Amino acid sequence: MKNYSESYWSKRAKKYDETSWVKNESFIETFLDMISDKSFSNILEVGIGTGAVANIMTSRKGALTGIDISKEMIDQIKNDKITPIVANAHDLPFEENTFELIYMRNVIHYLEKPEKVFSEIHRCLKPGGTYLFSQVVPPNDNISSEYDWLIGRNIHYPTKNEILELFSLFKKINHNDFLLENQSINNWLENTCQNEEKRKEIIDRHRKTSEEYRLMANYRDVTDDIFVSIRHFMVSGEK
Ligand SMILES: C[S@@+](CC[C@H](N)C(=O)[O-])C[C@H]1O[C@@H](n2cnc3c(N)ncnc32)[C@H](O)[C@@H]1O
Repeated sequence: MKNYSESYWSKRAKKYDETSWVKNESFIETFLDMISDKSFSNILEVGIGTGAVANIMTSRKGALTGIDISKEMIDQIKNDKITPIVANAHDLPFEENTFELIYMRNVIHYLEKPEKVFSEIHRCLKPGGTYLFSQVVPPNDNISSEYDWLIGRNIHYPTKNEILELFSLFKKINHNDFLLENQSINNWLENTCQNEEKRKEIIDRHRKTSEEYRLMANYRDVTDDIFVSIRHFMVSGEK
C-alpha cells in the first residue's frame, strides 16, 4: 500500500477532478439521497480529496469538516463552508461522540487497515449518528481476483460482502448498487496513470477479460477506447 501514500496523491491532485466519475452529479445525488430525510449539525468527510462530494453536501446540509492524508488534494478545495484538516483516517483527531454524520467515498481500497478506520469512524460518531459510505466494487464478488488483476494497481478492491462485514459495528444498514455507465478507460488511465507502458498493459488486460466480466460490465471495445460500467456499493448505517 506504500505506493498509494501522500506522495501518490500529491501527484494526482491537480488532475484529479478530470477523471469523469469524480464530479458525476447523478452519482453524487444518488449517494446523498440516501440521507435526504435527515439534517445534521456536525458533519465529517473522511478522505475528502478535492471536495467533489463535499461541495454538494454543503449545499444540501451546510458546513462540514473534511480530513485527508494529502495536503495537495485538500489544497484544491475552494469552499468557505468546508474546514479541511490534514490527518490520517486510521487515527482521527477528534473526541469520541463528536459527529452526527460521517461519510466516505472511494477511500478504503487505499487503506492499510479498513477495519481500524471503521472503528475510528464508529468512535467519533455520536450515538444514533449516521455513517454514509460509497465504494467501487467488482461487478460481482465472485470475480474479485480478476478485477484486482484487471485494475493493475496491486491493491484489493473490497467486495460487497467484505464491506457488509466491516459494517457489522453499525445498526440499521441500508444499501444500494449504483452503476456508472459507459466509463472510458482512456479517460481513467490518462488522469490516474502516468506511466505509458503501464497504461498499455492495463488496456491489454482489459482485452483479455473473461466473458463473465464483459457481460456484467457492459464491456465495449471501440477503435481507440474501451467503455465499461463501474459498480459502486453505497451503504448507510447508524451507531
Ligand atoms: C479516490 S480519492 C477519493 C476522494 C474523495 N473522497 C472523492 O470521492 O472524490 C481517495 C482519497 O483518499 C485519501 N486517502 C488515502 N489514504 C488515506 C488515509 N490513510 N487517511 C486519509 N485520507 C486518505 C487520498 O489522499 C485521496 O484524497
